[in-house]
Amino acid sequence: MGLHKLTVMCSVLCLAAFAVQLAESQELLQAPTLRFAVDVNQSAVKLYSAVPVVCTIPDTARRPAEVHLSLAANTSSAVLSFTLTIQSPVIFTLNARPDFETAFVCWYRIIRTKEQSQFSEPINIVISALSDPLVVLIPPVFPVGAKYTFQCETPLIGYTNTTLSVYDRLLPLRSGNNSFKYVGSRVLNPGEWGAAITRTNTGETYEFLCEMEVFLNGRALRSRSKPIAAMPEELPVRLVPKDPGTCYGDAYVRVRDDWRPLCFVSKFDNTLNTAKVVCKELGCGPVVDYRTLGGALYNSVGTPNCTGNEKKISECPISSERSCDQGTLNVICSEALPPPTLSLSERDTASWVYVRTEESVTLECIFQSSIHEFAYITLTRDGNDLYTRRTLPGSRVTWILHNTVTEGKYACYVHTREFKVYRTESSNVIGIYIYDPPPAGAVAAGVITTIIGVIILALLCIYRTSE
Ligand SMILES: *[C@@H]1O[C@H](CO)[C@@H](O)[C@H](O)[C@H]1NC(C)=O
Ligand SMILES: *[C@@H]1O[C@H](CO)[C@@H](O)[C@H](O)[C@H]1NC(C)=O
Ligand SMILES: *[C@@H]1O[C@H](CO)[C@@H](O)[C@H](O)[C@H]1NC(C)=O
Ligand SMILES: *[C@@H]1O[C@H](CO)[C@@H](O)[C@H](O)[C@H]1NC(C)=O
Ligand SMILES: *[C@@H]1O[C@H](CO)[C@@H](O)[C@H](O)[C@H]1NC(C)=O
Repeated sequence: MGLHKLTVMCSVLCLAAFAVQLAESQELLQAPTLRFAVDVNQSAVKLYSAVPVVCTIPDTARRPAEVHLSLAANTSSAVLSFTLTIQSPVIFTLNARPDFETAFVCWYRIIRTKEQSQFSEPINIVISALSDPLVVLIPPVFPVGAKYTFQCETPLIGYTNTTLSVYDRLLPLRSGNNSFKYVGSRVLNPGEWGAAITRTNTGETYEFLCEMEVFLNGRALRSRSKPIAAMPEELPVRLVPKDPGTCYGDAYVRVRDDWRPLCFVSKFDNTLNTAKVVCKELGCGPVVDYRTLGGALYNSVGTPNCTGNEKKISECPISSERSCDQGTLNVICSEALPPPTLSLSERDTASWVYVRTEESVTLECIFQSSIHEFAYITLTRDGNDLYTRRTLPGSRVTWILHNTVTEGKYACYVHTREFKVYRTESSNVIGIYIYDPPPAGAVAAGVITTIIGVIILALLCIYRTSE
């Protein structure tokens, strides 16, 4: 009897538990709402753009809750999920991929009770626009007669079923037919992302634009770039100094009506060649130094890749400004920093001088320059560096040589950096040699002996003649 009662009670309890579970799985919680974020224009969603959507669960729903975003066609898995602990809408950011051009729903599940909600009303993503293709001219600035490439790229890698078409027209516009003319197009294969047109031996200015067509889920979308002009330039160079002067300063070239700086690129190993050509074009003599002053680099043209044999900067191909990292290119040509002058103190300066062993000699080296900057003067003997001193232009640097002067050919030169890489030509050369005349007593004795000898000879002659 007792046993039977127990069985019945168990059955009732078990049934009750089963009924509760059944009710739970049937009575889904109130649905959340799903909408586009306010800044999304649903009728202008661009391919591969970020599309934020907002899922809001009812205030009465208990937290924490898992909030999910699913394709309406496949709610058994979530595309994006978020665990919500506070009362707040959830923003999911979708990428407008071709396969996401479909309906989405959101839903939530209370973590503690495992209760699940109904699905929100669906929202549809329709892709109806493209970002503009990217266009670039390489190099952006080029001299008359050089070649350039107009390049058109998809805004992101991974576009499929895409065709890029290039159009051009001649500038300046004349009355008549000014429309862009078709140049060519390219159907991008998987892995390709751009098309390019190269023009050589350029003389005229063309304006280019690029049109992109993407075939997407059965229809064609189009966008086009803004036009860019490819204008051959004369590219004269000038140096812009801090003080008056024309043979040193930051190098600029004129592009259209603007003077734009050349940039110094540390990893570029032919900057010296560029500096050489700058000095040559300006008739400023050989280059003495080049460096960066690290100034802000606004509007740079780029870096000419010169071999050093060109007569003008415009003969050097210009590398893109993308590689500029070090500020403007500052150049010092020898007209601005001519070789110094070496002289002797308290003596007539000649190209050679004799000194006695115990004598000292004072050498003076002086350089003149319009660049009012410290520089280094180095004294050399027979081409080897002896001493270096730091000084300003116009100041006399002296060295006193004594304790037996070492014979040799002395000269000096100027360099702008302590660890010299580039330098002026050497000054005039002064040869210094030791000559010790014999002592005065010995000379007198020699002279007397000679005179006596002459007298005896004369007497002998007179004696012979009279005989
Ligand atoms: C949304 O995009 C369409 C198509 O580009 C445009 O006509 C419309 O003005 C845009 N609406 C808003 C609110 O920006
Ligand atoms: C739903 O998505 C899951 C996970 O991505 C996938 O395994 C499943 O095949 C999809 N079901 C349908 C009907 O597409
Ligand atoms: C201009 O030339 C293009 C191609 O050469 C042509 O398609 C277009 O009809 C012309 N437009 C006019 C106004 O002549
Ligand atoms: C690309 O084109 C092919 C053939 O026309 C088509 O089967 C495929 O669905 C297209 N892809 C997209 C993303 O539209
Ligand atoms: C500079 O030109 C030389 C050939 O003259 C070339 O080998 C080198 O790659 C060029 N450097 C750059 C950075 O363009």
